[in-house]
Amino acid sequence: MKRIGIMTTGGDCSGLNTVIQRVVTGAMRRGWTVVGIMDGTDGLCVDPVRAVTFDANTLPIETARLAGSWLHNGHAGALNYETAAATGRLAEFNQTIRRALRHLKLDTLILVGGNGSLSLAWNNREIYADVSLVCIPKTIDMDIPLTDNTVGFDTAVSQVVSFCDQLILTARSHHRWFVVQTMGRDCGNLALHAGVAFGADAILIPEIKFDPDALVAHIQSRPRDYGIVMVSEGVSLRGHSGRPADIISRKLSAAGIANRAVYPEHFQRAGDTTAGDRILAARMADAALDAIDNNETYVMTAMQNGQCVTVPLSEFFAAGDVTDDPNISGMQTANAYVSPDDPLLMVAHNMGAYIGEEK
Ligand code: F6P
Repeated sequence: MKRIGIMTTGGDCSGLNTVIQRVVTGAMRRGWTVVGIMDGTDGLCVDPVRAVTFDANTLPIETARLAGSWLHNGHAGALNYETAAATGRLAEFNQTIRRALRHLKLDTLILVGGNGSLSLAWNNREIYADVSLVCIPKTIDMDIPLTDNTVGFDTAVSQVVSFCDQLILTARSHHRWFVVQTMGRDCGNLALHAGVAFGADAILIPEIKFDPDALVAHIQSRPRDYGIVMVSEGVSLRGHSGRPADIISRKLSAAGIANRAVYPEHFQRAGDTTAGDRILAARMADAALDAIDNNETYVMTAMQNGQCVTVPLSEFFAAGDVTDDPNISGMQTANAYVSPDDPLLMVAHNMGAYIGEEK
């Protein structure tokens, strides 16, 4: 009989509760005990450690669709990688986590995290020396190397699309445009997918340069005097600082195009988990439990060509575009971006959207 732990780290997204519920269900069928660590690594840095042992009723099926994480994702300002690095206490932090995992007597930890958490796990391997580690990728940004999908992405796309579905009605009433800024950090996947799903008139992502004058000309040439310009938060314009939606909004206003910049913000991380995300969560939970059965460690579950597989964390890190962690000095993060060959770019272009400098 095994004793496994599960924790959710980094920003929340919809789908985390489905992952937790499916892991608990599958583990209990195997006769295993599941310990939920509260507040990510924050919960391991306090004495006593914040953890609960799941039973069949802890996270009932009717709550598994809800956004957020039943286990929480951590407090701002608590002792975590960021604050430990900033105060020169990284070694102490690593030892504290290792000691806490030993104290919980876990065989395996399932870490549900984004590219930052997975990169930190790979870069700080000493923390997990006493357990095996299986990761499940989650993020609304879809910026994790080696997986074609991440838990939370589909729901975030649906949230942006629902937001635009409502917005377009007021846009039409006032003959004006909305510049909708999506999240996504430096990766354009969320804006690209939401833009194609909604039918945006322009989709601007950090991976593709664009010419503001060409954007204005495109909007002026549209057969309607209202619509949506989708812009990813990572977009930058040479010579301008500030939020990209504000900058673009000012450019459109200067050309006499009535518009408003709007920000769906954390609404993108909310919303009932879509069926697509629930299926993905179930597949990833199932693959994670199989990986534990097979004594795998330092692996991440991944969707590749329709199959749910596991890949070594070393490969995840090596396949990524590695950049310095903006918040933790000395740490590096493996990132993925929209590929120039992504077929959705051509679809967006063919449906008449301006997507910037074309291929
Ligand atoms: O990585 C997920 C994400 O939602 C990004 O898209 C966004 O830039 C960031 O987190 C927002 O973080 P916070 O919750 O700290 O505002």
